[in-house]
Amino acid sequence: MIQELIREALEARSRAYAPYSRFQVGAALRCEGIVHSGCNVENAAYPLGTCAEAGAIAAMVRGGGRRIEEIVIVGEDAPCTPCGGCRQKLREFGLPDLRIHMISPKGDMLMTRTLSELLPDAFGPDHLG
Ligand code: THU
Repeated sequence: MIQELIREALEARSRAYAPYSRFQVGAALRCEGIVHSGCNVENAAYPLGTCAEAGAIAAMVRGGGRRIEEIVIVGEDAPCTPCGGCRQKLREFGLPDLRIHMISPKGDMLMTRTLSELLPDAFGPDHLG
């Protein structure tokens, strides 16, 4: 199961558009048995760039999915932990015990954290009733 996420995250990373930072990122998540992936897409107007996680989430929603069950992220050799904004985006579709795996470009597992570890006491959909 995790092997498919790893394979897809690496494949997504290979398509990253990161001419400015040169920091390529891939993300792959599983939702109801289906894997969705994304890569970072930068822009000459720098703030408009989007993260790999955001791309994977958009693909999931486009496919009708609403629940992230597990996600793999790959950047460089140090664990590519999701940025603050993406942690909040993951919260929208992930439960506190969502497992977030960071892998190396070679596919080695570097770190695993739960969403609640990365975003404790999160504000989320439940707050809005
Ligand atoms: N980036 C991601 O796509 N995901 C992360 O978790 C961290 C950062 C991207 C954004 C930007 O294109 C590049 O990596 C450098 O920040």
